[in-house]
Parts: sequence; C-alpha cells; structure tokens
Amino acid sequence: MTEMNNQETMLAEGAIFYIFGATGDLARRKLFPAIYSLYREDKLGKNFAVVGLARRPRTQEQFREDVRAAIDEFCRYDVQQDEDWNEFAKHFEYKPLDINNVDGFRELQQHSQQLEHEFHIPGNRLFYLALAPELFGAVSYNLRDGGLLDTKGWSRLVIEKPFGYDLESAKQLNEELRSVFNEDQIYRIDHYLGKEMVQNIEVIRFANAFFEPLWNNKHIANVQISLSETVGVEERGGYYDQAGALRDMAQNHMLQMLTMIAMEPPSRLHPEDIRDEKVKVLRSLRTYESDEEVVGNVVRGQYSAGSLKGKDLPGYREEDKVNPESTTETYLGARVYVDNFRWAGVPFYIRTGKRLPVKTTEVVVEFKSIPSRVYLSSKHNLEPNLLVIRVNPMEGIYVRINGKKPGSEGGVQPLAMDFCQSSIVGINTPEAYERLIFDAARGDSTYFTRWDEVSEAWAFVDRIAQAWKNTSEDLHFYPAGSWGPERANELLAEDGFHWWPVNGQEEDTVVWK
Ligand code: BG6
Repeated sequence: MTEMNNQETMLAEGAIFYIFGATGDLARRKLFPAIYSLYREDKLGKNFAVVGLARRPRTQEQFREDVRAAIDEFCRYDVQQDEDWNEFAKHFEYKPLDINNVDGFRELQQHSQQLEHEFHIPGNRLFYLALAPELFGAVSYNLRDGGLLDTKGWSRLVIEKPFGYDLESAKQLNEELRSVFNEDQIYRIDHYLGKEMVQNIEVIRFANAFFEPLWNNKHIANVQISLSETVGVEERGGYYDQAGALRDMAQNHMLQMLTMIAMEPPSRLHPEDIRDEKVKVLRSLRTYESDEEVVGNVVRGQYSAGSLKGKDLPGYREEDKVNPESTTETYLGARVYVDNFRWAGVPFYIRTGKRLPVKTTEVVVEFKSIPSRVYLSSKHNLEPNLLVIRVNPMEGIYVRINGKKPGSEGGVQPLAMDFCQSSIVGINTPEAYERLIFDAARGDSTYFTRWDEVSEAWAFVDRIAQAWKNTSEDLHFYPAGSWGPERANELLAEDGFHWWPVNGQEEDTVVWK
C-alpha cells in the first residue's frame, strides 16, 4: 500500500483509454468488466472515453453490445440491474485499425481530439496493449508517428506479459518501447500484483509488531509458495508450448510474490522505493552454477492423461496446438535461496502446475520449531507455527499455533487463528485488473514491474531454461488430477520439510480448526 493507494478517489482529470485488441479475450474477460466496476464505484467520474481498437470491422452498436455481454458474463456488478447503461455505453467507441498503417493512427489522433472535447478530457491518454508482444514495437512507433503522443496531458502505455521470451528478447522489446516512451510511462502488468492478498503481504509484514522481528533466518525455517491450477492449457497450446510453467508463471507471478515476502522495508511508501527493495531481492537470488545444480533444485513435470473430479482428461501432448513430443513443463517446483543477511540459509520453495487437483494460490511461512527436549516439546511432537496467506480464490490469512487439547488428559494440538477475507468482503473484493487499471490511470506504478525487475527475473530464469535445453531426462510425467511429480516432495524431504497442504487439499485444516 503506498501513499497514493490510500487515496481511493475518483480519477479526477479524466482520460481516454485505448484498448488495442478490443475484440480479444483479455478485453472481454477482464478489461471491460474492470472499467465498468470502476465506473459503478464512481472512480472514473464522467470525463472518460474508451476506444476499442482491433482489425475486424464492428459497428458502434455491435461493439457496445459486445461490451455489455462481456460485463454481463464476467463482471462482479450486475449489469442487468443497471438502468443507466446507455449513460455508460456512450463513452465507448470502436475503431477498426491496422496497427501497421500509420494513417489509421493519424485519424485516431484527430478523432481523439473530438472525444477530448466532447467528454472534457485534458489530453490524458492511456494505451492498453492487449496484444501479442511482437506488436508492441509497431504500435509504439505508430502512436508516436501518428501524433497521438503530442498531447497536453500525460500518455501511458500498459502492456501485458509475456515481456519477452528470455533476457535477450526482453531487452530488445524494452529498447523498442524505450525509444518511444520513458520508463515512467510504461506500466508492465503482472496481474498477481493486483491481487488483494498479494498487496496485503506488505501490510501484514510491516503493520504488525509480531511478524517483522521474526521475519528472518533466525526464526523462519522455510517459505512455500504454491500456485496450483486445475485448468490445462485450454485453447492456448500454441503460446504455452513455447512458454511452459517457467516463463508463464515462475518468471513473473511466482518471483513477484517471492519479492513481496522477502523484501526489506522500503524507506518510504513510494512506488520507486518499494520497487528498489524488490529488485534487490531478485539480485540476491542464488544462481544455479551448473546444469546439475538446476536439476538438483528445480523439478519439472508434464501432465499425462488422468482424471479430475471424475472427468477423464487428455495428456498435455494430446492438447490442441501442442507438439506431440513436447518436453514443455506444465509443472515447476524449485528450491530457491535469497542470499542476503536476512534470508541466508532459508529455502524458498515455489511450485506451480496445471491440471492439479485444486485451484489455489497460497504462501506458507513455516517458523522454526522451538528447541526440542524443552518443556512440552520433550513430551509431544509439536507442530511448527505457520503463517498462511491465502491469495486465490479464497482470500484470507491464518496463523497456526499450538494450544492445549481440551480436557484433563493434557496434550497439545495445532489451532488455527483464521481470518477469511472472502467471507467478510465477499464478492465485492475488487478484481486485480480493476486496481491495476485504476492505478495506471492515476500514475501509481507500485504494482507494475519495472524494467530492472523484469531483467533480473529473466536472468534467473534463463539459467534454468539453458540447463533444460541440454537435456530433458529430468522431465517427470504426472497424471492430470494428481499433485505433480513425486520428485517435488523429495526436494523438500531432502531438507527435512514437506509441502503443507493447501486449501482444498484432503488433509486441509481438519486438524487445525
Ligand atoms: C496467467 C497465465 O498469467 O495467469 C495463465 O498465463 C494462468 O497460464 C493465469 O492460468 C493464472 O491466473 P489466476 O489469476 O487465474 O490465478
């Protein structure tokens, strides 16, 4: 939470939101619903326009109907009950655009001036590229050459991942963007940073007297970050087969969550100070020196045919647009070290996979056990204390402590002090995209990734990718619907630990509540 984030105010000045890729999936599922939610919460005010841009022809009416259907399907607010729909819809326009043709951008510039006049917008422009990254360069150049950046207000570029395929391609992409925009105009989305509970990590750590003193290698035994998904690759086989879990999830979401857990307190609650601390964590990640070290610390798996909730599922290699001999990983588990004074010697275990039994994202901080042979621990097998942050889809925090078993026989049992945010705030928790679009529009870049973070994350990931290129013998197959390769359990067992069950897993919380 930054000083800026405290001001949940309306976007006072107004802006034009240009959605490139307006007929695509992201716009439909996330962007239009997010803009509508912001509108319903009076955060957008009245001085805004949304221009949908894509290649295919669409009339204004068709486009507004598409937007309405998307909101109806994916938004947390009920559009059916909205009597003022037309009032909202009139802010939406569609323009067919060939992004390789600068003339279309020139027309867009002229049209933008009309819109700015009509909606009293002082020249602020937010360009959201919901497009394949190969197109970012062409769009940026044409925005400049078409005159769209010659405006009295601010202009900002919001881009989606993947930001490159490796460090080299990311650098090239960055150079293209930087030849048009300054770093502080570029907002690189990692939608995990928009999630309520990921943002909450900072608050939990720095606003509570009893965590920060223990938040180091003297008291923490290990940290586990699990991001499990039930879905396979759906219709994204073409993209995913090139990316795999390493590039799709670890390079961004997983490492970003890790930085939030591991970073030092920033000197001020300012976006740059927070990102300075995050990048230091990435710079402190221990690099695996050899291919053997990669194989010893990073587990990769691929799902084979299996079943989930009684439904038979194909293996990854049988999925649409996937190479039938693919060695792409759909599961990744890794032991990562942050080599700095605070964390020296503490393993961070991360795991993510597709076609696992439940959809959940959780962070577990396992504290060191109290000395054995002292008082109660000499008689009982005491379980370690845990702090669990549930990110998704359930949101909450719980602390697991040891307490007395009720009754006169004595004994100790683990108890959970449980705060369930989802049950309290319910469906009204803002979606990640709402927060991120709103933040970009008011110039708060805290929860966007800065170039140095992206490049450090790629450097770390490239070392793993390089080792994997040399051999695929360490690829483990796991049946769809299982918890991934056994090797991921061994990884923790080697250090005397085990994965804590996540929400929805069989053993979950039964004992603890
Ligand atoms: C995306 C990945 O970034 O995150 C997807 O490309 C993945 O493969 C998705 O399914 C998971 O996001 P969430 O918010 O549903 O956990």
